[in-house]
Amino acid sequence: MTLTLTSPLDMHLHLRDGEMLQTVAPLTAQHFSGAIIMPNLLPPIVTKEALLAYRERILSTLPDTNISSFTPLMTLFFRPDYSREFLEEIHPDLAAIKLYPAGITTNSEGGLSGFDVEELSPVLTAMGDLGIPLCIHGETNGFVMDREAEFVPVYEKLAAAFPDLKIIMEHITTAASVAALDRFDNLYATITLHHLLITLDDVAGGMLQPHLFCKPIAKRYEDREALLQVALNAHPKVMFGSDSAPHPQDAKECPGCAAGVFTAPIALQALAALFDKYDKLDNLQAFVNTNACCIYGITPPRTTVTLKKQPFTVPVKYGEVVPMFAGQEIGWSITTKF
Ligand code: DOR
Ligand code: ZN
Repeated sequence: MTLTLTSPLDMHLHLRDGEMLQTVAPLTAQHFSGAIIMPNLLPPIVTKEALLAYRERILSTLPDTNISSFTPLMTLFFRPDYSREFLEEIHPDLAAIKLYPAGITTNSEGGLSGFDVEELSPVLTAMGDLGIPLCIHGETNGFVMDREAEFVPVYEKLAAAFPDLKIIMEHITTAASVAALDRFDNLYATITLHHLLITLDDVAGGMLQPHLFCKPIAKRYEDREALLQVALNAHPKVMFGSDSAPHPQDAKECPGCAAGVFTAPIALQALAALFDKYDKLDNLQAFVNTNACCIYGITPPRTTVTLKKQPFTVPVKYGEVVPMFAGQEIGWSITTKF
């Protein structure tokens, strides 16, 4: 059995910089035709110069064959003082702006510490007017299992106050976020591969599994079920975003383990296996492309990726990074991208 996907997109991706960028960017470009690139570098991407230079560094890692078949969709790190003039100028080069609550995850120290509608009004109104989506890492600093559900009222407050602003609830992990999707026209969501597959039991129920530790942490079975419902049925407001977040092996297998699951090179194969398991392969195209194209209003380079129901053994490492399913078999493999 084979499956052909057209222009698959990863709507939430960490590529890092330097040597790590060299390792991971070509792996995504090999399979995907575009990806939303997270701006949480050190320092974060907050200027047009930094954004354009980062895009060039990404493209410079790619083999010639992938330069025209892969679009890095660039983002800025949210700052409440971006002016309308600045946003107008950068708009043609910008796919979205990513908002991190301060200190909530990797390299988010410069994030936002309050969500006052009046204070945020100039920048969020301008983004709404210009059609620049706002991607949010939605967690409070409460108890780790409750952080995302506690953030839902913030999503709702912003969605109600800025009806023209497209708000993407990034990497949702709870039934509470899924339920919020249908309450506001302007709320959308990305869902990762790992949150469709694991619960907290897989991370910490037995021996601790550092390579499955991420933010937001995987939740309960009923949460995973709610995510599966909307992903497998390709709810038009959800998109695939891997949140593939590479860290070197020694930063994961140590006390103070960094948060992030590295899935970029195995994501499409594992998604095909998952959608096949539930007899939903027909919906995978919408989950990895059509929904995102509609929500973001983008037309990525036209590529086709053919997958085959044939086992693929995941490498134990890509450079210094240990992927999800390292050394294990996935039931589907990728045969070609054109
Ligand atoms: O697990 C995560 N890792 N979650 C995030 O939000 C950030 C990411 C990273 O950059 O490592
Ligand atoms: Zn992320």
